[in-house]
Amino acid sequence: MVFTINQYEFGQRPPVSLPSPEFLKLLSEEGIRKMVSDHYDLLSKSEVSHLFPRIEEALDKAKQRSSDFFIQICGGHTFYTQNRGRPMLAARHSPFAINQEARIVWLECYIEVLSKLNLPESVMQSFWDYLNTFSVWMVNTKEE
Ligand code: HEM
Repeated sequence: MVFTINQYEFGQRPPVSLPSPEFLKLLSEEGIRKMVSDHYDLLSKSEVSHLFPRIEEALDKAKQRSSDFFIQICGGHTFYTQNRGRPMLAARHSPFAINQEARIVWLECYIEVLSKLNLPESVMQSFWDYLNTFSVWMVNTKEE
């Protein structure tokens, strides 16, 4: 499938639909945790590595929080809310200067990970649409 990255004006918040629950059913919790772990490992080597934890222990915790979140929004266990409370993700990203470029790098790292997964196109598309739109909400910095 073709992973298209949509561009938006700074400050726009496009509507977001949650991914299909099939994504979790087909990948399993394990699979989601591996996907997130691989994504963080790529981010750690990317142009936006400065945003992410350098110490392995902290990186492992970040991987866990993020995996918990994706499992939850795909209709799985509510580990994220149990451990962290309401997601309020835009607010949780506000301490980090995330510009449009950073969003693109973040999405490109996901393209690399998702391309290696074998899932039906409709299921992959629903997950990608979620990342493509919701990632725009995390952009909080106009320039470099
Ligand atoms: C669909 C889009 C995104 C989702 C669902 C998402 C999800 C998350 C979650 C669940 C956390 C942990 C929050 C907590 O502390 O409980 C987090 C943290 C973080 N995210 Fe995102 N994120 C997205 C986009 C982005 C983008 C585009 C960037 C920047 C390139 C980014 C950078 C970070 C950073 C720096 C942290 C803090 C370190 C960490 O705990 O990993 N995120 N994200």
